[in-house]
Amino acid sequence: MVDVAVQRDVHTLRTTASGRVPAGEAVLQHHDDTLKGTGRRRLTTFAEPGLGGPVVAFTELFWLNGQLKIMVQHGTVVHPEHRRQALGRWIKVANLYAARWVNPAARWVRAGNTDDNIGRLAINRALGFLPYDTHSDWEIDVQAVRAYLARPG
Ligand SMILES: CC(C)(COP(=O)(O)OP(=O)(O)OC[C@H]1O[C@@H](n2cnc3c(N)ncnc32)[C@H](O)[C@@H]1OP(=O)(O)O)[C@@H](O)C(=O)NCCC(=O)NCCS
Repeated sequence: MVDVAVQRDVHTLRTTASGRVPAGEAVLQHHDDTLKGTGRRRLTTFAEPGLGGPVVAFTELFWLNGQLKIMVQHGTVVHPEHRRQALGRWIKVANLYAARWVNPAARWVRAGNTDDNIGRLAINRALGFLPYDTHSDWEIDVQAVRAYLARPG
């Protein structure tokens, strides 16, 4: 159980890291209700520089009540002013340790990584994650599609 102030801090850190605007508490409550209602669980480890916040780093694992063997590593964010001090690495380790007690049935942890996220790649490699599957996202300009479709013949 994470208190409301911590949840709000975690949410602010996550949204600002991805350039989005933080949502209000009603929306956060709705996210939590949806999580519970769809049979999902979340384990969060967070770091505060002193008692009472603010949260400067967090990491999350998710899993389904109906599929305990697989846990999914979601966001890990460290506030820009606190990066490169091993916080990212150690909160992930702490969360994985905690997972052993919270979901002892877990056998696999899945994490996603883009090639250009050097920090996340370094941490995942150091923890022993191995490549399992790869995929490419493709993008095309709509104008190029229109030009292709307008070709004669
Ligand atoms: C990725 C992120 C969580 C790393 O947090 P961090 O606390 O700075 O990472 P650590 O200090 O634990 O770094 C551990 C190792 O990873 C590597 N590393 C981390 N950030 C790096 C970077 N920007 N460039 C190169 N190597 C990096 C280093 O090897 C580092 O060890 P070292 O400092 O002893 O050389 C942080 O940069 C972040 O919040 N980024 C934005 C959000 C994001 O991309 N999150 C990940 C996906 S959800």
